[in-house]
Amino acid sequence: MLEKVESLLKEVKGFTPKSNKDLENFRLKYLGKKGEINKLFKNFKSVPNESKKGFGQEINKLKKSVQDKVDAFKDSFKLSKKSKNIDLTRPINIDGLGSRHPISLIRNQITSIFNKIGFSISQGPEVEDDWHNFSALNLPEEHPARDMQDTFFIQTNPDILLRTHTSSVQVRYMEKNKPPIRTLSPGRVYRNEAVSARAHCFFHQVEGLYVDKNVTFADLKQVLLYFAKEMFGEQTKIRLRPSYFPFTEPSAEVDVSCNICNEKGCNVCKNTGYLEILGCGMVDPAVLDNCGIDAKKYNGYAFGMGIERIAMLKYGINDLRLFFKNDIRFLKQFSSL
Ligand code: DAH
Repeated sequence: MLEKVESLLKEVKGFTPKSNKDLENFRLKYLGKKGEINKLFKNFKSVPNESKKGFGQEINKLKKSVQDKVDAFKDSFKLSKKSKNIDLTRPINIDGLGSRHPISLIRNQITSIFNKIGFSISQGPEVEDDWHNFSALNLPEEHPARDMQDTFFIQTNPDILLRTHTSSVQVRYMEKNKPPIRTLSPGRVYRNEAVSARAHCFFHQVEGLYVDKNVTFADLKQVLLYFAKEMFGEQTKIRLRPSYFPFTEPSAEVDVSCNICNEKGCNVCKNTGYLEILGCGMVDPAVLDNCGIDAKKYNGYAFGMGIERIAMLKYGINDLRLFFKNDIRFLKQFSSL
């Protein structure tokens, strides 16, 4: 009797079902009413008393291994049966399609506007050192203008920080390339600011740099006018206001005419008819020298703008935080752009 149980056990272990039907036949053969296991239990009477315990244990072992096998295979056939029923001609569900983020859309527009006039794209690291973010840009240690940008420093090394502006890429680019230089550097920047509708602890900028012989402020102005018209429409005007940046001399801030009210004054432009979009100027000769470019031979201009700011003006968005919330209801509105 015991040998019979053992040979059945071997059979069960070696069995691999090929289909659901196979598996069901196997189950009935052992666990069915007239199956092997019930037959064995029926023979229980004829087993001598002293062997009954061991025999019972063996049958239970057999029963368990049959059940284990059934459990192990039942799901695999269910799945393949289901996959056979998939209708491959059904139209796809397009509701789940994503869309480009408005910051990416504006960044792409800006880069393609400058690509058309020969600017290449360059990038630098977001974790930067003091030299590239500050010192080389005419902001030596203790310079009061460093306070203009609240910086996140790496705690263990005050020389390493999260870049506060993409102007750091200017330095890296000039260190590696000889004039003529025409490059645009989009990227993420970080500042230790309280998050509000108008400020965030990280945002995006695009930096522009042009270095060659005999570059003039008129060249800068013309390029910015071209950019404003391409970005905001042919009727757009620009206005330059004198300003201060340590890395440019002279420096200016640039406003574009408000195309929401056509310069008549509205709450977006705060009744001024103009909106500030960027900072710019002629690269300070000390910056060129710091980066290994002969300032007696070459000069250039630079500008930097916030991508969020351009996106807010272009799409009429009044809260900066919306860009970083990943709220599908907000992001979906840009899916056709
Ligand atoms: N880096 C400046 C900022 O983050 C923006 C800027 C101003 C960049 C003037 C420039 C520039 O290249 O010439 O506020």
